[in-house]
Amino acid sequence: IASHLLAYYFTELHHDQVQKVDKYLYHLRLSEENLMDVTMRYRREMDRGLGRDTSPTASVKMLPTFVRSTPDGTEHGDFLALDLGGTNFRVLLVRVSANGKQKVEMENQIYAIPEDLRRGSGSGLFDHIAECLATFLDKLGIKDKKLPLGFTFSFPCQQTKLDESILVSWTKGFKASGVEGKDVVGMLRTAIKKRGDFDIDIVAVINDTVGTMMTCGYDDHHCEIGLIVGTGTNACYMEEMRNLETVEGDEGRMCVNMEWGAFGDDGKLDDLRTPFDVEIDLGSLNPGKQLFEKMISGLYMGELVRLILVKMAKEELVFQGKTTPELLTMGHFQTSFVSAIENEKNNEGLLNAEQVLQGLGLSPSAEDCVTTQRVCQIVSTRAAHLCAATLAAVLRQIRDNKAAERLRTTVGVDGSVYKNHPQFARRLQKMVRRLVPDCDVRFLRSEDGSGKGAAMVTAVAYRLAKQHTE
Ligand code: GLC
Repeated sequence: IASHLLAYYFTELHHDQVQKVDKYLYHLRLSEENLMDVTMRYRREMDRGLGRDTSPTASVKMLPTFVRSTPDGTEHGDFLALDLGGTNFRVLLVRVSANGKQKVEMENQIYAIPEDLRRGSGSGLFDHIAECLATFLDKLGIKDKKLPLGFTFSFPCQQTKLDESILVSWTKGFKASGVEGKDVVGMLRTAIKKRGDFDIDIVAVINDTVGTMMTCGYDDHHCEIGLIVGTGTNACYMEEMRNLETVEGDEGRMCVNMEWGAFGDDGKLDDLRTPFDVEIDLGSLNPGKQLFEKMISGLYMGELVRLILVKMAKEELVFQGKTTPELLTMGHFQTSFVSAIENEKNNEGLLNAEQVLQGLGLSPSAEDCVTTQRVCQIVSTRAAHLCAATLAAVLRQIRDNKAAERLRTTVGVDGSVYKNHPQFARRLQKMVRRLVPDCDVRFLRSEDGSGKGAAMVTAVAYRLAKQHTE
């Protein structure tokens, strides 16, 4: 069938097939005009989140992070970091040394967080985190040292200072009880104290977007935006204090965690959401919430493709109208499949489509493989373009802040979709450049922003604290 597939790829039929899918999914194919409109809408949402009177009811929360400066290169010391909220839960030891070009060395351990802990009691979750920390310190033989720790906690949090962070609401695959409305630093301290076998100094809580911006800012001083497209999607940027009406003071800048995943939660994207988006939302852990995120990020991308294929099968447009129990099961079309199917090297993608579909118990024809590939392309392209639209709004905001004709800036990026999908980064960048032609934007992949970033923020906070006491 492999050669059969390849032969088919170059026929007229293939072309017709693609056009049929495009027509069927026209609602998921956003024009540049649509995207420009999304940029405008998002810019207004940013303003609402920044304004003192409008922020309490804004769906895009624009949360202050209390991160005001990026590393200056003099930071040094050993720091612990926790990373919760991405694909993996990790504990890290980061050594920051101020020897000219600063070096960051790491010890890095991944721990599982079973589903029952993610959705069980909050204290159970924090007990588990403390236990992983203890195991890590034991392994490295540093349990008796009271090291400073930075906590990357990638959920929306209300902060009043660097080391206090109140969870607004869980997002993505988490739903542990009794944490929303609580300070996660307090919960972690309590869990550690209860054990009594080690002590640490929790210095900072940061969002993964902030960590990403900080690690990239280390190599490129123009970096003032952090972007994540992974399990979830979100971005942060450096905003002028005078525009950030929810924090006292007008001097300098502060990093704002936008929580753009919640864009549309008040209905502002309803005209662009398809029945598939509605279905994804209804089947999620947080219905009605994070509607923009659900159109984009890795937790939902594969599932969107699956829902489309199921509907097409039921309408006898694919698989000769057949479905299988596997195809009908939520979560069985992983986002990594989308990446594999869109591989353009030597038509690898179509072969992968065939394998994936067979893995779901189907017997796909060549047409079915082409259809599936096209569905993947449409879903992931929409995701990349929607990210481009909101990013364009951020770029305009920064440009206006600087009253610059042309903005030259850098975006630090991380996340499994951005890094693993073969076309995502290219499509996103291309669309950003079309939407804001008067900006020179550099995209820089972050090297483990969630891990190193927390240590960097902690190191900066440590340096500043020491300056104050000296
Ligand atoms: C979700 C979280 C957000 C995080 C993003 C990427 O949107 O709410 O805090 O930055 O996922 O991990």
